[in-house]
Amino acid sequence: MSFTNAQKETFDLLRGVNLDVEKGKITALVGGNGTGKTTLFNIISGFEKDYTGDVVFEGNNFNHIPAHRISLMGIGRLFQDGQLLSGLTLMENMKLASDDKTGEMPFSSLLWRKRSKAAEAVKEQQAKDILVRIFGEGNKYLNMLNQDASAFSYGEQRILSLARLLMGGDRLLLLDEPTSGVNPVYIDTIEQIIREMVVEGLTVLLIEHNMHFVRRVADICAYLDDGIIAKLGPTAEVLDDKNVRNSYLGL
Ligand SMILES: Nc1ncnc2c1ncn2[C@@H]1O[C@H](COP(=O)(O)OP(=O)(O)OP(=O)(O)O)[C@@H](O)[C@H]1O
Ligand SMILES: [Mg+2]
Repeated sequence: MSFTNAQKETFDLLRGVNLDVEKGKITALVGGNGTGKTTLFNIISGFEKDYTGDVVFEGNNFNHIPAHRISLMGIGRLFQDGQLLSGLTLMENMKLASDDKTGEMPFSSLLWRKRSKAAEAVKEQQAKDILVRIFGEGNKYLNMLNQDASAFSYGEQRILSLARLLMGGDRLLLLDEPTSGVNPVYIDTIEQIIREMVVEGLTVLLIEHNMHFVRRVADICAYLDDGIIAKLGPTAEVLDDKNVRNSYLGL
């Protein structure tokens, strides 16, 4: 995988990434800024097409399948700058998650997809159940379901975007820096949501720069450096590795 920079020079970003993500586990992908972590997510989820190599999901080759189709085939994603879609209410955002998880066609799926009233009610109940499970009975979000997404702070939108991935349909979740921009008091909530994902049988691959968080939640850690997975193994083992400590953590 290579890109061309502003000076029209081509540089290799991902040279030979070989990563098996274990089903039902939480794997962290760590590495310095600009090493290609988000690009790897773009490749897996179909947003980046200009690469060589194979993306295999549940035994099927996912190479060069468009993003909206990949999303319907069971891979969900929290984007690095991902927030709720403004112009839609919290409830509409929650329901959207199980329709079109890329957000590429949010309005068309809301307006044109024919749904029965009963199916709609099931989804609404599911959305409320998720909010109760995460934020407790009588939490404030239950009274804000009809508020526009813009009524929520950045941090709240991050957490609610994560929570809506529990609406279903996915088997693999790609989370790009779930704790970024979120107040430390919410870190436990994010951990809880990610653990809920695994309890539901999902596989989680997450990018994080918060190493305390990675140590707490990730079973396995992959260290991306110089275009390859330079170290892979149990999280503590990877983060305590001398080379990882020197080259990434600066210790
Ligand atoms: N479409 C593109 N064209 C040219 N360069 C790109 C393109 N997309 C990404 N890059 C470059 O590739 C490098 C890797 O970007 P990427 O977003 O994958 O990094 P990252 O590991 O996610 O970093 P961070 O931890 O800061 O989010 C960066 O230098 C970025 O500028
Ligand atoms: Mg990134």
